[in-house]
Amino acid sequence: MSGRTVTFAPAGGPLRGDLRVPSDKSITHRALMIGAVCSGPVVVRGPLWAADTLSTAACLRRVGVPIDPAAGTGEDDRGDVVVRGVGLDGLVAPDGSLDAGNSGTTLRLLAGLLAGGRGVFVLDGDASLRGRPMDRIVDPLRAMGIEVDARDGSYPPVAVHGGAPTAVRYAPPMASAQVKSCVLLAGLHADGVTAVVERVPSRDHTERLLAEAGAEVRLEGDAVTLVGRPRLSLDEVRVPGDPSSAAFLVTAAALVPGSSLTVRRLCLNPTRLGFFEALREMGGDVEWCACARGGEPVGDLSVRWAPLHGIRLAAERVPALIDEVPLLALLATAAGGETVLDGLGELRVKESDRLAAIATIVSGLGGTAEVEEDSLRVRPGRLRGGLVRAMGDHRMAMLGAVAGLCSDEGVRVEGMDAAAVSFPGFEAALREVQAA
Ligand code: S3P
Repeated sequence: MSGRTVTFAPAGGPLRGDLRVPSDKSITHRALMIGAVCSGPVVVRGPLWAADTLSTAACLRRVGVPIDPAAGTGEDDRGDVVVRGVGLDGLVAPDGSLDAGNSGTTLRLLAGLLAGGRGVFVLDGDASLRGRPMDRIVDPLRAMGIEVDARDGSYPPVAVHGGAPTAVRYAPPMASAQVKSCVLLAGLHADGVTAVVERVPSRDHTERLLAEAGAEVRLEGDAVTLVGRPRLSLDEVRVPGDPSSAAFLVTAAALVPGSSLTVRRLCLNPTRLGFFEALREMGGDVEWCACARGGEPVGDLSVRWAPLHGIRLAAERVPALIDEVPLLALLATAAGGETVLDGLGELRVKESDRLAAIATIVSGLGGTAEVEEDSLRVRPGRLRGGLVRAMGDHRMAMLGAVAGLCSDEGVRVEGMDAAAVSFPGFEAALREVQAA
């Protein structure tokens, strides 16, 4: 895979900005899916319209859920939308397969939601998604009595035979919000209480939105419990900014001396703040202030450049910063002292093998990053610059771009278009903070 190659030159001076980033991808997926099984219309305000969430909307339309532009947004299907919920029993399998594109969240969460639908739902995706393991959702869905077929037992296409899931108590072998959400969404259709046990909590957007929609969701010790067959209704979901997108700009500001940046109206859910906490622990000058609004805390976050030092990050902290590990590795190249990040095995099964990709990218640009089993060891050192191949992975494309700003000679990113999977307008945002 190649695509457009873009050069990111070293920043000519401090970065400055007071801006917003695109809306949260995880919350947008959930607003569309939970909206789909509400028993009336749900207005979704400020959803993220990027490749991944467009895949979710397209799949939902195909299973019988109308999603229309909200009043006042004209024919623009990239703005606010009304999801015309069909209730828990209204999902119907179409002819042919459902295309989740590049999006693991679309495929894994929909598999749970559709477990209570009518007919056989075949979920498929692009070449990257076809290489990602689905046994993690096949196993619990089978435990709930649902017939599921997957290629070679684990890979898309995945066929979910809609039926009547039974409630389970399930402890996923890996920390994964996608697996937890799949089980909870299937549990919506089951009589009785479905429970997911997590040793380390993963992002909890599904639980928050289900509770807001009227479901009985509780945290009981290390288990999230859900009472099945609720009547769900939501008037409106407002989607705040995506902290995982903000993290790219925050990293750029933390690396370019003299920079200062504020990001407004960001989702500041504690299960998503691990990266900012780790940056602070490295000596980064970053602060945030959240006010709870509806189901999700929202607020502003500011960062100012400051000298950094290395840290050791324990495995149990990884779920709260799983998508930001590449950025921590980049920050570590500029820190005084070595950084070791533990418990990164899950990175091997993201949109690319991100553990290998991080080491290849950092080393290819002149730094030192080594994989040791499931850990990554990064030694400090200036990045010379060079070529980064995104390999179809949006976060690797944006990592290369940010690395360019703090390198000596700049970075060429091959396959920059991948950024549109989660952060439409990324290049413009980077230009904006350089021009301010
Ligand atoms: C997501 C959960 C995480 C994350 C992904 C989005 C979600 O995946 O990496 O980008 O919205 O639930 P896992 O649950 O597989 O760790």
